[in-house]
Amino acid sequence: MEEIRVGLLGLGTVGSGVVKIINAHQDRLIHQIGCPVKVTKILVKNLEKERDVQITPDMLTKDATEIIDNENIDIVIEVMGGLEEARAHILRALQNGKHVVTANKDLMAVYGSELLSVAKENQCDLFYEASVAGGIPILRTIVDGLSSDRITKMMGIVNGTTNFILTKMSNEGRAYEDVLKEAQELGFAEADPTSDVEGLDAARKMTILATLGFSTNVELKDVSVKGISSITEEDLAYSQGLGYTMKLIGLAKRDGEKLEVSVEPTLLPNTHPLAAVQNEFNAVYVYGAAVGETMFYGPGAGSLPTATSIVSDLVAVMRNMRLGVNGNSTVTPQYPKVLKNEDE
Ligand code: NDP
Ligand code: HSE
Repeated sequence: MEEIRVGLLGLGTVGSGVVKIINAHQDRLIHQIGCPVKVTKILVKNLEKERDVQITPDMLTKDATEIIDNENIDIVIEVMGGLEEARAHILRALQNGKHVVTANKDLMAVYGSELLSVAKENQCDLFYEASVAGGIPILRTIVDGLSSDRITKMMGIVNGTTNFILTKMSNEGRAYEDVLKEAQELGFAEADPTSDVEGLDAARKMTILATLGFSTNVELKDVSVKGISSITEEDLAYSQGLGYTMKLIGLAKRDGEKLEVSVEPTLLPNTHPLAAVQNEFNAVYVYGAAVGETMFYGPGAGSLPTATSIVSDLVAVMRNMRLGVNGNSTVTPQYPKVLKNEDE
């Protein structure tokens, strides 16, 4: 391979981070996969918008077919968000033999099994590490790191926007609307922040986590969901006074044969490790029958943290390309890792 050519669907908060990491870490990427990686085309809605990334105007397009039908593009990264349009583009890209990396939890929670089976049919990779908990490599951890164990429960903070809002309301006494606005400006919130504050974004992530963690097909409609929009500064101050911190907690646990998955505001004692998770940070507790209690912590939203997971998926796809084993795995790279240059 002389060069890997990447097409991006979207150049917003996350897409810009992807371009920055690919540019800044080019030497490291060459070292890992043995050839340069180049973003060649980028789908956007508005060609005139000012961008804070190093690109040339000819790289931008409003026509998705210039990426998904372009035989000179090897890998498509979907970071445009939304459901039906993103699904159609990904399906087409896979049917055209392109590997896909996505950060889109809405899509993976609803159409994940369809897309993964189309990817397999076409010997393509479809990786989605960034779709849950931003910069924390939680999906690989569950599927790979804990593959020897039987997971019994997962519990955590998987939405950065709501954690940011609850932290600022609680610690600084700020108003809900004011903090939500700041979370939007910082690029943490979804295009429609209702999905953050009403718990739907967290429910989509818990659907993905539970599907992988319990090796069963969990559907979004089976997750019971309650958000934080009705919580007031007074509620938070009162619970703080009693020694409790309010967090939006996602929970997935086995109860006999039954699997319970929920998202709801929960009062945790101030001494609980999840009570100390602040701002846009996420943390996921995973309980394994053999390992016991483990906890994974890190930035759950934002440009560079999320892009880190995406570019790691990109590296995984490229390693698989070199080994000729694409399409055999859902979230994990094939082994052994290829760390040498092609000609070594
Ligand atoms: P943004 O709204 O910041 O960016 C979306 C990008 O896609 C923009 O560049 C926009 O173009 C482009 N776009 C959107 N719709 C279309 C369309 N119909 N046709 C062409 N271009 C389109 O979103 P984010 O970067 O925040 O999020 C992207 C994805 O990543 C979402 O699925 C989100 O859930 C997920 N995600 C986001 C995280 C975050 O912290 N923000 C973290 C983890 C996952 P233009 O620039 O011209 O408007
Ligand atoms: N809106 C999401 C959040 C982005 O706040 O967690 C990361 O998935």
